[in-house]
Amino acid sequence: MKKSLVSITDFTKEEMLRIMDFAAEFEADPCQRILLGKVIATLFFEPSTRTRLSFESAINRLGGRVIGFSDTNNTSVTKGETFHDTITTIANYSDMIVMRHSLEGAARYASEIAKVPVVNAGDGANQHPSQTLLDMYSIKKTQGTLDGINIMMVGDLKYGRTVHSLLQAMSHFKTTFTFVAPPELRMPDEYKQQLYDLGIPYTETTDIGEHINEADIVYMTRVQRERFLDLMEYEKVKNAYILKNAMLADTKPNMRILHPLPRVNEIDTDVDDNPKAYYFNQTENGVYVRMAIISYLLGVKK
Ligand code: CP
Repeated sequence: MKKSLVSITDFTKEEMLRIMDFAAEFEADPCQRILLGKVIATLFFEPSTRTRLSFESAINRLGGRVIGFSDTNNTSVTKGETFHDTITTIANYSDMIVMRHSLEGAARYASEIAKVPVVNAGDGANQHPSQTLLDMYSIKKTQGTLDGINIMMVGDLKYGRTVHSLLQAMSHFKTTFTFVAPPELRMPDEYKQQLYDLGIPYTETTDIGEHINEADIVYMTRVQRERFLDLMEYEKVKNAYILKNAMLADTKPNMRILHPLPRVNEIDTDVDDNPKAYYFNQTENGVYVRMAIISYLLGVKK
């Protein structure tokens, strides 16, 4: 039976840990040609740099082939072809579909249509589960464990899909959360309710300095300009938080700064050379984790 990864909640805790183990094996030995003969479609209805190219790098490194598009302007979508017909057709050409779309629920719908597994590479403000697994891998590598971590999430917690998926995944690991956002971009109630129901502690503040010295992970996010209906509202909050090197002076020695990227200006470039800056290492981890996700879903890794 095919298995897709549309929401991080599609994976059990045990499956997440298996992905961590597979990713570590791929990091130690990235040249395993276990996708020879496989074709994977990357369908990006919305722009991407890291997610598309790290998936394509992962597929190429494992010996598979990639088809797809990064811009629907060169596809029959421009002639009025429906999403249903596009997905049904491409499922006939490929062994797996990796897709990004601006509409929440698009990946779930694709997974119901397609006869091959679907990986959600981001659907609107909803979910970005492969990013979450690479974030978890980055946490495990830098902290030595996933258990009992204090995570401070900063920025656009309303529209940022990566924080929604990460909150759900880390809820399995006795995490303590601090949410730092302007009132307009707070973590949505449905996610806080999930924490409440599970008895998981969280703190909310608008002040980035209030809890930064307690954090093991500071997870910065970009204000998601593309999700705002009124750009005047974006202008009001776009510079809400800018992390600077001087703010890190009294942070914990083990603390690491993650960011799914792209960055606009929420992390000053003077942080980049600080040993606590981990966001570019995080991008490399994405290749190993995406190797792990693909090989797990296709059942090709022994
Ligand atoms: N982290 C992430 O999703 O980056 P891209 O938008 O560049 O894929």
